[in-house]
Amino acid sequence: MPYLMGLDISTTGAKALIIDETGAVVAVANSPQPISQPQPLWSEQNPADWWDGISASIRGALAGSGLSGDDISAIGLTGQMHGLVLLDEKGAVLRPSILWNDQRTQAQCDEMTARIGARRLIELTGNPAVTGFTAPKLLWVRDNEPEVYARVKQVLLPKDYIRYKLTDAYATDLAGAAGTSLLNVAERAWSAEVLDALEIPAEWLPPVHEGTQVTSTISAAGAAATGLKSGTPVVGGGGDQAAGAVGMGCVSPDKIGVTVGTSGVVFAPLSRYTFEAEGRLHAFCHALPDTWHFMGVMLSAAGSLQWYKDTFAPELAFDALLAEAAESPAGSDGLFFLPYLTGERTPHPDPLARGAFIGITSRHTRGHMTRAVLEGVAFGLKDSFTLVNQAGLPDEFEVRISGGGAKSPVWQQIIADVLNAPLVNINTTEGGAFGAAILASVAAGFYDDAASACEAMIQTGDAVAVSADAEVYAERYSVYQSLYPALKETFARL
Ligand code: XUL
Repeated sequence: MPYLMGLDISTTGAKALIIDETGAVVAVANSPQPISQPQPLWSEQNPADWWDGISASIRGALAGSGLSGDDISAIGLTGQMHGLVLLDEKGAVLRPSILWNDQRTQAQCDEMTARIGARRLIELTGNPAVTGFTAPKLLWVRDNEPEVYARVKQVLLPKDYIRYKLTDAYATDLAGAAGTSLLNVAERAWSAEVLDALEIPAEWLPPVHEGTQVTSTISAAGAAATGLKSGTPVVGGGGDQAAGAVGMGCVSPDKIGVTVGTSGVVFAPLSRYTFEAEGRLHAFCHALPDTWHFMGVMLSAAGSLQWYKDTFAPELAFDALLAEAAESPAGSDGLFFLPYLTGERTPHPDPLARGAFIGITSRHTRGHMTRAVLEGVAFGLKDSFTLVNQAGLPDEFEVRISGGGAKSPVWQQIIADVLNAPLVNINTTEGGAFGAAILASVAAGFYDDAASACEAMIQTGDAVAVSADAEVYAERYSVYQSLYPALKETFARL
């Protein structure tokens, strides 16, 4: 039986996944990744760690499944978006990669907006200048490390550095490319206008490919390092959110994806390019041809709960902590949590935003506080969901939920009630790596296109209906919405 491999270079791990042609997961191996925060607002990783990690994971997945490289028909790549990898003329890494959650580039974002014009930048790239995106990071290196900038010959995204190590080719996918701020998202090609305005040489950028297109094949060196077979095709794949959406079957406008990972994402596929006039939602290419998507990203979703547990209840199991939350009433008796622990993106693009508990009284218990965290994250997702709704959803749609946080039934119920939309679970929890393997299945010839591959490989599971608590949350949400505007100036002073 032929098999497919999905590789995910995420911020926390380098994962290799093997599935068979029915979508059944055969093996998974993950190598945790270190992250460094050398200064406030900075976030970096070493590309060499990704390569060591993914080589070990590929070997581990092959060994765990009893398969050899000969059994893998095609490989899909996915990974953290927006990260900046700089290579010199010999393909050597010039400095640590600056990651998606790095917030050092406000001055360069302001420069981009001034040079291109706020409206034009959104029209062309689907987004305003965002501190975490790739282009402002490149300008930051120009401004702060001119000796490094002078040696740049190639700019890559994290997963595309791994593609280069595996196949010796420079290439990227369109969903990932859309997260650089350098792509003409409507035309699915690098934007000459943006590159000219920012004086970035077009030859620094790799060729762009659709997610299901073969970019290159495993090289002899890539094979020697991983146990894969030389000549195995590698497809474009997608940025983690687009590939994750494929892994959830969100490949048409009637399937909305909600992901509760470290970050929280609302993902809405589009059949034509459009953008939100104020750029409050990301508009990107999807990992499928002729498809785009809107996306709202909150930076700390399950990340908020993890921080809260580590800080206030490290001794308690998640289940016990969440059981206390389930005992507390909807609305947490007037206690609110703002989930901006690492700044925010949607709908408040503000690196200086901070988290907060608001409305604490002496009657509140730990259960209330935990519930307020779950509710605050759900309200943050609602902010994105509301924007997607305003931008135009089809009359009938389904909301599919995934991510580590989505495993909790109490959190799922809160999210269904806050969004006032029933949720549908899916049969896989492997996220982007699974979606990347689905994209590879098309190149391997198993399916005609990604939509039929998803149809065959993804099954829907339990549904969560909206409960009577939705009414409480509709009223509470208006209070939540008033909190960031009231605190914005204070956050900046903090
Ligand atoms: C998407 C985003 C994150 C990163 C890391 O815009 O910033 O999803 O890709 O996961």
